[in-house]
Amino acid sequence: MKRLAVIGGTGVDELEDLEIIDSHSLETPFGEPSRPVQEGRLRGVPVFFLQRHGSPRAIPPHLINYRANLWALRSLGVNEVVAINAVGGINPAVRMGRLVIPDQLIDYTWGREHTIDDGSSGELQHIDFTEPYDRELRLALIDAAAGDDIPHEASGVQAVMQGPRLETAAEIQRLAQDGCDVVGMTGMPEASLARELGLAYASVCMVVNPAAGLGDVPISLEMMREVLQREAAVVGKLLSGLLAERYS
Ligand code: HPA
Repeated sequence: MKRLAVIGGTGVDELEDLEIIDSHSLETPFGEPSRPVQEGRLRGVPVFFLQRHGSPRAIPPHLINYRANLWALRSLGVNEVVAINAVGGINPAVRMGRLVIPDQLIDYTWGREHTIDDGSSGELQHIDFTEPYDRELRLALIDAAAGDDIPHEASGVQAVMQGPRLETAAEIQRLAQDGCDVVGMTGMPEASLARELGLAYASVCMVVNPAAGLGDVPISLEMMREVLQREAAVVGKLLSGLLAERYS
C-alpha cells in the first residue's frame, strides 16, 4: 500500500484543508525530527505532513536534521514523499509563482549529515542516483498538474546551495552555465537520504524570486512569502489531485 508524506518548505507551514487526526512526536537514531509529524486526511485520503524548518521555530537549511526527518517518516510506514521547495528562478523561461517538477539536481551543499551509512554494515553501499527523483511519482505529479490545468514545468535541474545566505550574481551565472534552472537550499541531502531509505521521493519547486542578479529589486523573505501565500492554493490543488489519483 502506498502511504504519502508531504514535506513542507518555506511558507508551507501547514497543508491546506488537512484534517489532522494525530501528531507523532518521534525520536530516531539521529535525534528528533524538525517537528512532530502530523497525520491526517486530505479530502478523505490519509497523508502525513512534516514542516522541515520546524514551527514556530525556524531551522535554517544547513541545520535541518534531514536524517531524523526521513527516518521518522519511514518509521510511520510512509513509502512515498513529495517535497515542497521554495526556489529562485535561473532559467528565464520559469516565471515567478511557476511550479517546476525537477528531474535532475546538482548538489553544491557541504558539511551536512548526508548519509545514514556509518560504515557499520561492513559492506560498501553506493546507491544509484542517476535519476535523483522517483520517475513514477514525478509522472504522477505531472499528470495531476496537467489534469487540473496547473501551469508547470515538467522537468528542470534544481541547484541545491548551502545557504543560508543567498547567492552572488556570479554564482548564479555559474549555476546557469552548469545547466541549472532553479536554485534552492533544502533539496539535498533530503533526496539522497530518501533513496538510501528506500522511499520514493519527488520534488515540487515553487519559484518565489528571480535568482540573484536576475531581478530588478533585492531578494527578500517578504517577496518570497508573498508569492508563496498567493500560490499556496495551487500547491494544495496539485496535492489534492495527486492524492485522489494515486492514494485513494
Ligand atoms: N536561492 C537559494 N534558495 C532560494 C532562493 C534563491 O534565490 N529562493 C528561495 N530559496
